[in-house]
Amino acid sequence: MTKTMDTQNREEKPVLSLRGVNFRYTGKKSSVTALRDISFSVKKGEFLCVLGPSGCGKSTLLRIIAGLLRPTSGEVLMGNLPVEGPSWHRGVVFQAPTLYAWLNVRDNIAFGLKMRKFPQKKIRAITDQFIDLVGLKGFETQKPYELSGGMKQRVSLARALVNQPDIFLMDEPFGALDALTRQNMQALVRKIWDKTGNTFLLITHDVDESLALGTRVMVLSKSPGRILSEFYPDFTRRFLNGSGEKVRYLPEYIELREKILKEIIGQSGTAEDLPAP
Ligand SMILES: Nc1ncnc2c1ncn2[C@@H]1O[C@H](COP(=O)(O)OP(=O)(O)OP(=O)(O)O)[C@@H](O)[C@H]1O
Ligand SMILES: [Mg+2]
Repeated sequence: MTKTMDTQNREEKPVLSLRGVNFRYTGKKSSVTALRDISFSVKKGEFLCVLGPSGCGKSTLLRIIAGLLRPTSGEVLMGNLPVEGPSWHRGVVFQAPTLYAWLNVRDNIAFGLKMRKFPQKKIRAITDQFIDLVGLKGFETQKPYELSGGMKQRVSLARALVNQPDIFLMDEPFGALDALTRQNMQALVRKIWDKTGNTFLLITHDVDESLALGTRVMVLSKSPGRILSEFYPDFTRRFLNGSGEKVRYLPEYIELREKILKEIIGQSGTAEDLPAP
């Protein structure tokens, strides 16, 4: 009995917690409040999508969690430890791929493991495994300038994956890709989530992307961003279980999509940031 409760507690323990996070950009002449009183926790294996209108503070939030910015007040914890700077425990993928131009695909992906001084053989084995997972087999010796946008993001994903981080943080990673490549990349991320059981936090302003991936969708208000509402869709598994893109035509999908859209439009008063219906 006690053992079961212990196990349960361990499983329930959040990977990431934010408590009362506020953030203010302070310039010489003016300052901007970007986030207001953000508190939430993310459990292991969750796929959290954060949605919100342009300028509401999504990237600021991701940078705070990544350890690239310090909150003005409040705290960010990974497990029990405060986030004090960037770390490989949090894999980050940005909208614009930030690859090393002088390194080929394999060396870009292996970079983090080399820095962590893994033995050569192990680096090779892990790198190969993730090159395969993201579908880059055969492209190992190409340089970033020889790759398409989608392929570059595959490298970015693999580069974060090799470190087997505790959480993946992604800031509109497919925003610059064409619609078809975007769908393929979403399918890839879904597969990675399923295969690795890892925890994901993805920032997007595309409601369909949040429903195609998220097990939880959090909507932020317009600037200064605060949490407006949360939804718990369950379409990710259905996309995985062979229903494919047909899921998008299910009445419950359409209903939830409408509900979330209304929430965003209702508070921003504009649909300019939203995808065409
Ligand atoms: N370096 C900065 N200095 C001052 N203000 C900033 C800075 N970066 C962002 N801001 C402001 O903070 C607010 C939140 O910006 P942020 O980039 O986090 O929004 P976002 O939700 O990611 O927007 P988008 O959807 O357009 O990417 C905005 O009002 C923005 O103008
Ligand atoms: Mg942004």
